[in-house]
Amino acid sequence: MKLVMLGAPGAGKGTQAKLISQQFDVSHISTGDMLREAVEKETELGIKAKAYMDEGRLVPDKLVISMVQERLGREDCQNGFTLDGFPRTVAQAEVLQDMLERIDKGLGMVLDIEVSEDMLIRRLTQRRQCRKCGKIYHLANNPSATEGVCDECGGEIYQRVDDEESAIKKRLEEYHSKTKPLISYYQELGLLRVIDGQQGTDDVFEDIKRVLKASRV
Ligand code: AP5
Repeated sequence: MKLVMLGAPGAGKGTQAKLISQQFDVSHISTGDMLREAVEKETELGIKAKAYMDEGRLVPDKLVISMVQERLGREDCQNGFTLDGFPRTVAQAEVLQDMLERIDKGLGMVLDIEVSEDMLIRRLTQRRQCRKCGKIYHLANNPSATEGVCDECGGEIYQRVDDEESAIKKRLEEYHSKTKPLISYYQELGLLRVIDGQQGTDDVFEDIKRVLKASRV
């Protein structure tokens, strides 16, 4: 199973990608998480990416593409993967197609999670995340049992810098100008399936499972 999750910031890509990976035993590859880890560790990549991410701009293709190429070559991707946050530009999508066609028969499916802009903003401004294990919370829909403490690992729960309003605005602009063209790109390749992301998390996941089962990817 080789999947790509598409959708605006806050559509629920990360939430659903985690569920898919658990249920179908495939690797979850989140470029956002990988870049945040690089920033935290102050690696060369992290130092270059930080300013872009804090402002809500996309990190340059060249940096992200080599990071993903290295990641997809690892052993744990042989059984399949769910790409969350990649590709984000047509240039990234073209590199991914070339890469997968060379090693195998290409992507199985692209899931586009659609959510209205009002709801995206509510989800992002109230999102919180565990600094240690990455578990995603929401202050209203899915809070942790103890405020500020992760239910899974006891780690610190924090708000991402790019979940502040000015960065959210920029992320949505970047999505509309650079990522949305991927919808027609994948439609033309016959890979796109649209998922109604306005429903609760469990219902979104049920729809995804139905689509995956029907297509036998
Ligand atoms: P990234 O981390 O990928 O951020 P994003 O695409 O903006 O996506 P989010 O993580 O914000 O949202 P999501 O769709 O995963 O939603 P989530 O499941 O968390 O990227 C961050 C930055 O890194 C970028 O801005 C860029 O700078 C850089 N970057 C990353 N990849 C790059 C690339 N390929 N190229 C260039 N730059 C790159 O859900 C959101 C909230 O809603 C949560 O609180 C959750 O609990 C809640 N929620 C989710 N689903 C539901 C539901 N169904 N009902 C109710 N609440 C829900």
